[in-house]
Order: sequence, then C-alpha cells, then structure tokens
Amino acid sequence: MTRFLCTPGGRIAGSLRVPGDKSISHRSIILASLAIGRSHIRGFLQGEDSLNTIRAFRAMGVEIARDGDRVEVDGVGMRGLQAPADDLDMGNSGTAMRLLLGLLAGQQFDSCLVGDVSLSGRPMGRVIDPLQAMGAVIDSSTGGRAPLRIHGGKPLHAIDYDMPVASAQVKSCLLLAGLYADGETRVREPAPTRDHTERMLRGFGCRVETDGAEIRLAGGQSLAACDVDVPADISSAAFFLVAASIAPGSDLQLRHVGINPTRTGVIEILRLMGADIELLDPREIGGEPIADIRVRSARLHGIDIPPELVPLAIDEFPVLFVAAANASGQTRLTGAEELRVKESDRIQVMADGLATLGVDARPQADGIVIEGGSYGGGRVDSHGDHRIAMAFSVASLRADGAIEIDDCANVNTSFPGFVGLAREAGIGIEADDA
Ligand code: S3P
Repeated sequence: MTRFLCTPGGRIAGSLRVPGDKSISHRSIILASLAIGRSHIRGFLQGEDSLNTIRAFRAMGVEIARDGDRVEVDGVGMRGLQAPADDLDMGNSGTAMRLLLGLLAGQQFDSCLVGDVSLSGRPMGRVIDPLQAMGAVIDSSTGGRAPLRIHGGKPLHAIDYDMPVASAQVKSCLLLAGLYADGETRVREPAPTRDHTERMLRGFGCRVETDGAEIRLAGGQSLAACDVDVPADISSAAFFLVAASIAPGSDLQLRHVGINPTRTGVIEILRLMGADIELLDPREIGGEPIADIRVRSARLHGIDIPPELVPLAIDEFPVLFVAAANASGQTRLTGAEELRVKESDRIQVMADGLATLGVDARPQADGIVIEGGSYGGGRVDSHGDHRIAMAFSVASLRADGAIEIDDCANVNTSFPGFVGLAREAGIGIEADDA
C-alpha cells in the first residue's frame, strides 16, 4: 500500500518534462508490432500500463528491445502474431484491453484478456457488441466484463457503426478490427475524441479517411515500419497546469507537451476559469502537434464547463475538480457520466475526498457541482486510481492542513517518477510504501 503524505502550501516553479503520452505509447507498440520492418520509438512511457502492452506483444512473438524510453520493435506484419502461451494481462489499462480486443478478434488463434480488479469491473460490452456484429466470437463474464476469451479464426466483415458513446477506445478497437475485415469499416462518433490512432495509422502508411464525424478504413491493408516520437502526456502535464495555476507566485514551463486539439480541453477549461497559460514554440513532430507550455498563477473563477469540452478533457477532471475547489464561486460539470466508469467512479471518489477536506462538492448522475473556497487537510482514499491520487496531492498546495492519500501505487501506471518531479516542482509530497 503506497500512501502519499503532502504538507500544505508551496509554490510551483522550474522547467519540467513529464513522461510520454500513454495513449500514443500504447498505439506505437501495437502498430509497430503489426508493421513490416523495424520501428524506433522514443519518449515511450515507462509506466505499468504501456509496459504491459509491450509484454503482451512479446508474448505473441514480437521482438521488442527497450532501453529506458527508447524502444525498438521488429514488426511481424499483419499476419505474423503468434498464439500467446498464457492469458494476456492488461493490468489497469482499459485502453490496452479494448484496443487489443479489436486486434485479437481478427487473429487465427484463440486468446484471453485479463486485468486487475478495477479493469475487471469496467464495461466491455461497448466493444464486444460491435465486434460481434463484425463476426467476432468473444466470451465475457456477466455484464460484458473481463476476462474476455476471443475465439480465433473467425472471418470479420466491415461494419458501418454509429458509436453510442464518444470513446476513442471504441473507435480505435473497431479500426484495428477493420484492418482484418473484408470491406470498408465506417465508424461515426457522437463527439470528437482523441485521434491518435488515425494519425498514427497514416504514419505507418495506412489509408484512413476522416470526413466530419465519420472515419473510414479499408480492410486488408499492410503497415510499414515508422519511427515514433512520443510527446509528453498532456494528461500528466495537467496536474502541473492546475498546481501552478492555484499556488500563488508560481511560474512553470512544461516542455515538449502533446497539444493535439482532441486533447487540449483541459487548457480550454482552465483558460475559461481565468488561468494564465501560454503555448510556446508550437510545432509538429511525427504527425502530432507539440508545444512548450508556460503557466503562471492566476485567480480562478468557477464556470459551467461547456459539455462539448468533456470528451476533450475526459482524463483531466479529477485535477480540474481541484482547480474548481480553488476557484471563486461555483463550477458545474454536466454530460460527464463516463467519469463513473473510469479506473474508479471519478465523480463519487473525488466528491468523497473533497468532502473530507471540507469542500462543498455535490455529485450528480452525470457530473458535479463544486463551490470554491478554502479547505483543510485530512485523509482521503484514491481507490487505487492514479489520477485521483495525483489530483489530491495538487490540492495540498492550498490546503490548511496536511493531506494523506491512500492506495497510490497505481500512479506508476501512467506517471512513473511523479513524486520526484512533483517535489522538484514545489509540491511537499512524500511516498510511504509501508
Ligand atoms: C483513451 C481514451 C479515453 C481515455 C483513456 C485513454 C485512449 O477513454 O479516458 O485514458 O487512449 O484511447 P474512452 O475511450 O473510454 O473515453
């Protein structure tokens, strides 16, 4: 059980590079494994989630060499994966499980995807149902939960699909299955979601068309090896965007951050709240927009979060709730019921933790209402959710007392080295591994 102990107060300053983007790291291993030839990846996230993806592809016969954040993948081609000897353990990662499910549905061999307690409770019907409509045969536990047993050797047919939820994982799952299907797969999303899969598929030489809300891809294409430069993860940078915004006297630079417009909802929401965030030297590397970000403290005020920004900031709400607790007035979030099926129920778990600190936070079915103001310290439970643990450590910057956060080991799934980097930036945090 890892516990974070955070002393109150502090100021955020310096220049940091947070670890590589989790979404892009997963996709780089998946596509490089399916390509013909050797791909080089740099800036790879050395977190438990993306390392599990490497393990899964090694278990399917792909040679992958890693030296820190540099990875070399000898792709085996679209038909070169081998049957794994054991179940594929995706740990805590919904992205890995949902994307691999689409890929495995198109293989000749049987396989089984498993995960930890949190992942085993998350809904997989959203990917199982359309895959079954394509011809896949998948057994799941009650309610469409993992373990997921995939029967290989089933021919897949292209699907024309209106996604009921705005989910990049569902879209990416179906595009990966679509590579193995006969015909053209068409997927329409109800709202824009992160488009890293489409961008990276193009980088690997695959034709993918985007036409408004519709994404189209023809089956039977092959991929050619490609080098990938993984930007720093804006979802990890988000903790410091909020930290520097709320801690008086702060001035921080975050280097080489991915600013793909399908991911920058956090910046837009913070700016609407009055944050002082500047994008410096915007550039494009390997098909993904990148910038350095300067953030200085500002007086935040509460807002009604525009619902269209929700999918563009879906992973950043735990720390945005901390921003709201430090803003003057009320912040209201609606249209965010998806937060209830993330690594934890992020609406309830954040509301409980904020209430412990004395914040007036009222959970709603699809969001939350938070009254900003001062708050104290206390002991909160992250429920093993990495982003909740990190969000409450940011809250300590403005708390009147110390904050203890339980169950923090999963911070390593997305942000290895968080405690060291947070201390360097100015958060009074220590990890206790008792
Ligand atoms: C991700 C998509 C999002 C996000 C997750 C990463 C991805 O999930 O929450 O952390 O890499 O495709 P949903 O597709 O469920 O919204």
